[in-house]
Amino acid sequence: QGPCDLYANGGTPCVAAHSTTRALYGAYNGALYQVRRASDNSTRDIGPLAAGGVANAAAQDSFCAGTTCLITVIYDQTGRNNRLTQAPPGGFNGPAAGGYDNLANATAAPITVGGHKAYGVYVAPGTGYRNNNTNGVATGDQPEGMYSVFDGTHYNGGCCFDYGNAERNSRDNGNGTMEAIYFGNIKVWGYGTGNGPWIMADLENGLFSGVNPGYNANDPSISHRFLTAIVKGEPNHWAIRGGNAQSGGVSTFYNGSRPNASGYNPMKKEGAIILGIGGDNSVGARGTFYEGVMTSGYPSDATENAVQANITAAGYSVGSASSGLTPGSTVSLRATTACCTDRYIHHTGTTVDTAVVGSSSSATEKGNASWIVRAGLGNGSCVSFESKNTAGQYLRHQNFQLYLNANDGSSLFAQDATFCPEAGRNSQGTSLRSANYADRYVRHYANVVYIASNGGSNTFDNATSYNDDVSWLVSAPWSP
Ligand code: AHR
Ligand code: AHR
Ligand code: AHR
Repeated sequence: QGPCDLYANGGTPCVAAHSTTRALYGAYNGALYQVRRASDNSTRDIGPLAAGGVANAAAQDSFCAGTTCLITVIYDQTGRNNRLTQAPPGGFNGPAAGGYDNLANATAAPITVGGHKAYGVYVAPGTGYRNNNTNGVATGDQPEGMYSVFDGTHYNGGCCFDYGNAERNSRDNGNGTMEAIYFGNIKVWGYGTGNGPWIMADLENGLFSGVNPGYNANDPSISHRFLTAIVKGEPNHWAIRGGNAQSGGVSTFYNGSRPNASGYNPMKKEGAIILGIGGDNSVGARGTFYEGVMTSGYPSDATENAVQANITAAGYSVGSASSGLTPGSTVSLRATTACCTDRYIHHTGTTVDTAVVGSSSSATEKGNASWIVRAGLGNGSCVSFESKNTAGQYLRHQNFQLYLNANDGSSLFAQDATFCPEAGRNSQGTSLRSANYADRYVRHYANVVYIASNGGSNTFDNATSYNDDVSWLVSAPWSP
């Protein structure tokens, strides 16, 4: 069974079901999404490995080998054809031709589900999907529910990383003309405790964390790597729920009447569907989407709890990193980008770069490219790298560039020097995620080493060859 079988059992069937990672019905065996490759602009549908199963990422990998691919369509598994495609211009223009939004890079969000490789939808600012001509989605004050699974560490304070119900003309048609899940840390409209990110409801001209505009004390900051986010609404009643998509249940962060602000009761939902953008095509937000559905009718908490159990059982994971990073061992870290496979992470004094190191290199150079793996200074389930030839000095980032510095014992240093290994994002070796900037990975760029986000605003965040540049082969140390 899939989430949509559970919603149907509960009397609140899915009217839209989107996922690039897995089938959302036990019997679904159709296309999940479509990719388009740059080499010849041809497209390929990607389906599940088997009915009800995980996406066939290998089919994407072979189709996209040697070129790049974009996600062009996220199909609707309900049979209603509520598919998501490149969002058109609206109140705001997107950055692509004709004011459309960008399409997501098809390999930018690799993960595993139940041990099988799959790809999420990586939304960098400017990216957006939409359907303004839907079938069966709630309109007016009709009841509906929705959930989605996001990367809870990938967000920003731009407007608005949303999934759900929006205006059919891509414009701001006034309060109550949307009802979508929002995830991020923008505080312009609403917010909860801590510094965010928060799950909120985008009801148009307002992200609501509870009954009040602005602050509501029951909406916590929540940033599970895989995050289940829920919003549902019916006449003068709505709720926010959320939890860890890898384990445990979902908690209720709001359950009550429509906001203390005019225009939201009754609602004036229009029934379009958006992903990664605001209702008026605001394109400032980032996030990652793995799966999500919209229902007809207001789902019970019990139905949603069963869906959460189904999600946790699906087994979302960042994938297993190479086994070479055992605390106490010494390693060298070799680049995997085609330009640079003779280069290793290396230091000269405090300066960190990639350098060509080989058997004829000097003993000093070999030591400069060798690292003692330590349990992460800031998180024992991650790692830190102590210099082989400069005891007590560790790789750390500062202003997003890597340096070799002495451990000063501060918690900032511990965080800056801690990296969490994941399966290499180009399928080779290991990628190293920053412990305190979770959308950034250790990356070489022009042979200098940074923590970079894919397609972010710094030069070294450039999306070109990102997955290769952040994938490192854990090798035998040049200086054992
Ligand atoms: O409600 C927040 C945002 O305000 C909506 O997503 C957008 O349409 C408007 O700019
Ligand atoms: O590298 C990003 C931040 O820059 C580090 O966390 C901090 O040390 C510096 O301000
Ligand atoms: O670091 C070497 C190369 O520099 C990277 O592969 C590329 O992203 C940048 O141009």
